[in-house]
Amino acid sequence: MATLKSTLPLLTLTLASQASAWGALGHNTVAYIAQSFLLPQTAKYTQRLLNDTSNAYLANIATWADSYRSQPGGAFSSPFHYIDALDSPPESCNVDFERDCPEEGCIVSAIANYTARFQEKDLDLVERQKALKWVVHFLGDIHQPLHVENLAVGGNLINVTFNNATTNLHRIWDSNIPEKLIGGFDLEDAEAWSKTLIGEIKTGKYANATKVWVQGMSANDSIASAMHWATDSNAYVCSTVVPEGQEGVENKELSGEYYDDAIPVVQMQIAKAGVRLAAWLNLVVTGKTGVKGGKGGYHVGGNKMDGGLVKRGSGELELEAWMVEARRVRRAYGWDCGHEH
Ligand SMILES: *[C@@H]1O[C@H](CO)[C@@H](O)[C@H](O)[C@H]1NC(C)=O
Ligand SMILES: *[C@@H]1O[C@H](CO)[C@@H](O)[C@H](O)[C@H]1NC(C)=O
Ligand SMILES: *[C@@H]1O[C@H](CO)[C@@H](O)[C@H](O)[C@H]1NC(C)=O
Ligand SMILES: *[C@@H]1O[C@H](CO)[C@@H](O)[C@H](O)[C@H]1NC(C)=O
Ligand SMILES: *[C@@H]1O[C@H](CO)[C@@H](O)[C@H](O)[C@H]1NC(C)=O
Ligand SMILES: *[C@@H]1O[C@H](CO)[C@@H](O)[C@H](O)[C@H]1NC(C)=O
Ligand SMILES: [Zn+2]
Repeated sequence: MATLKSTLPLLTLTLASQASAWGALGHNTVAYIAQSFLLPQTAKYTQRLLNDTSNAYLANIATWADSYRSQPGGAFSSPFHYIDALDSPPESCNVDFERDCPEEGCIVSAIANYTARFQEKDLDLVERQKALKWVVHFLGDIHQPLHVENLAVGGNLINVTFNNATTNLHRIWDSNIPEKLIGGFDLEDAEAWSKTLIGEIKTGKYANATKVWVQGMSANDSIASAMHWATDSNAYVCSTVVPEGQEGVENKELSGEYYDDAIPVVQMQIAKAGVRLAAWLNLVVTGKTGVKGGKGGYHVGGNKMDGGLVKRGSGELELEAWMVEARRVRRAYGWDCGHEH
């Protein structure tokens, strides 16, 4: 692949502009980190379900969900890649499942649905495989702050420049910022980045944080677990993504000081997503997170998350007029992350 990259710069550029939703680099790095923290029983379970015993069994499927949603028959899964928090950054960041997860579903309900489905022994094998691929992908997406924010369609409508190239705020968080740090987006780039972050998780700057990262997950309440992750990511919208509001970033060059402030958050969110993905899969497959300090709540074979799923849309919650309008704008924009597929 190294030769491909050096001899075909044009192809590389084309692919780069198509990478989406944490881009391939982010998703594959999350997958490699998770692989390294899976318990042997979970590793075996996922390898068998995916029919892949290579050393990239999760990385190989981590971006499948982004190509699937642009295929005929896959469009229904587009709203599952995000939850549009109808909050008011930078003054107030918050996520509310009833308010923010609409009839068509969202990343939180999707994580619950597909976590239950990949374990359903009676389900068709291909459906179970798809379910696991979605879980691996969505645990990545939910750690990208702009996948947990409604503002300007998750930042897609906020034009910015990055290294003088016109782009939008959502895209730079998905791809440009991590790619500037790593210098590429191949599978090997992801593997190399994962090694750095695994070192920080085991003995470096994240060693103490890991215990906290795996708190708040309960295998019998996927909705509450995913809401915990969503709320954590969404807080970075106020602190780091738009600390001075939309005007603070609109039409600005963000590869300088803004990048410097964003990159520690991006690195931590990728590391956190990898650890939480491993802990989540371990928890539902074995009853233990397998990560030091993370007892988790658990209840193997507990309810199939129906409790959580029925909550959605059942309330008499009245959205404010601006929220109704914001949701209309999102639906009109569609799922596209601003990438031409
Ligand atoms: C598993 O993968 C192998 C080759 O990688 C293929 O021959 C086989 O048909 C696959 N099995 C299933 C059940 O998909
Ligand atoms: C659960 O997944 C199935 C299969 O993809 C889908 O048809 C269904 O709409 C999903 N349900 C929810 C509540 O997301
Ligand atoms: C952002 O850029 C697009 C295309 O470059 C343009 O059509 C759109 O009007 C711009 N939006 C704003 C708010 O400036
Ligand atoms: C953007 O372009 C200007 C003028 O061509 C140049 O001086 C500057 O260094 C460029 N900035 C970046 C980040 O590439
Ligand atoms: C982790 O916590 C221990 C004990 O509280 C402390 O001594 C150590 O310096 C911390 N490590 C990091 C990397 O923050
Ligand atoms: C999940 O299990 C824990 C104990 O393991 C229990 O306290 C909690 O109420 C359960 N939650 C649901 C939604 O069943
Ligand atoms: Zn996605």
